[in-house]
Amino acid sequence: MRSKIIQALKLTGEQPLSGNDIAEKLGVSRVAVWKHIETLRQEGYLIEAIPGQGYRLQEADNILDVQAIAASLKQDTIFKQFYYYPRLDSTSTRIRELLQEGQAAEGTVVAALCQSEGRGRLGRDWSSPAGGLWFSFLLRPQLPLQETACLSLLFALAISRTLQDFVDKDEVMIKWPNDVLIKDKKVAGILLETAGELDRIEYLISGIGINVNLASDDFPPPLQGQATSLLENRGTPADIQAVFLSTLQSIDRYYRRFLQEGFPAFCEEYKGLCYHLGRPVRIQTGQRVIAGTHIDIDSSGAMRVRSSTGIEVIHTGDVHVLDRGRDQHASETTRN
Ligand code: BTN
Repeated sequence: MRSKIIQALKLTGEQPLSGNDIAEKLGVSRVAVWKHIETLRQEGYLIEAIPGQGYRLQEADNILDVQAIAASLKQDTIFKQFYYYPRLDSTSTRIRELLQEGQAAEGTVVAALCQSEGRGRLGRDWSSPAGGLWFSFLLRPQLPLQETACLSLLFALAISRTLQDFVDKDEVMIKWPNDVLIKDKKVAGILLETAGELDRIEYLISGIGINVNLASDDFPPPLQGQATSLLENRGTPADIQAVFLSTLQSIDRYYRRFLQEGFPAFCEEYKGLCYHLGRPVRIQTGQRVIAGTHIDIDSSGAMRVRSSTGIEVIHTGDVHVLDRGRDQHASETTRN
């Protein structure tokens, strides 16, 4: 019933919907509607009551209808079960809790309108106000730990392909390992968290953040100038439901093929979108800083750099691109 109320309020958008209309539409009493609205508010939905007119839902256009997503996906995708929350600490934390409660099987997806403690790599914060696409999903690939690292490159590729349908295709690039950029600024990030043994992982939680309808002043000041959104590049909001659906479809396609063929099948495609291939870079990897020319991505997803002392193979690090007049650092990254 509550999701039906949300859908009814989403449909009317800016126009308030009276308690009477909702009651009639859904065949319940006005008191029942009022009680459900109170519960929805407690869950975190911002529902205004406008005297004499009715209820209006804030951020209506950025609220996902995950049941509609589930219905639109083909039966046999990797995504099986959906949870949606108006407000969470973190979708990745929530998935871990569901796992502990025995309520998350492989293919569980958790999405939220906003997160209060969104996490980026290396314990960094990930700013997650309403307007972004924030979700995590659970997978159990039967792979050694070391082979899961290239999944972050794979998902970056899948997301880039999706975003190319929403902005100028040629502007979407990947900064190794998995930052998706539009016009040199970060639009999406991926956080992979794994549990299990070295020779076989138990599960993998992949957290995806895409800045869909964020305005430039929605980003905290240190990120302004480094982060961007689809809205900023299109000049008009994107349909977040459509972005979510096509991101899931793309991840599904790429992941299934990866399970059959491994990362080598995607290496050339990844290189074609790589922001700094052939360019001078400086990479912070652990305690070392390596400067040189980025010459290749190998079939394990590692980066090859020609430095003054020879060829370096880098498995983790923050890439700084050096040939654009000033040191470009679209965002800090570390390979997960
Ligand atoms: C990065 O640092 O680039 C990775 C950012 C990942 C953010 C997403 S938003 C959904 C999921 N929940 C989190 O707390 N983090 C990830």
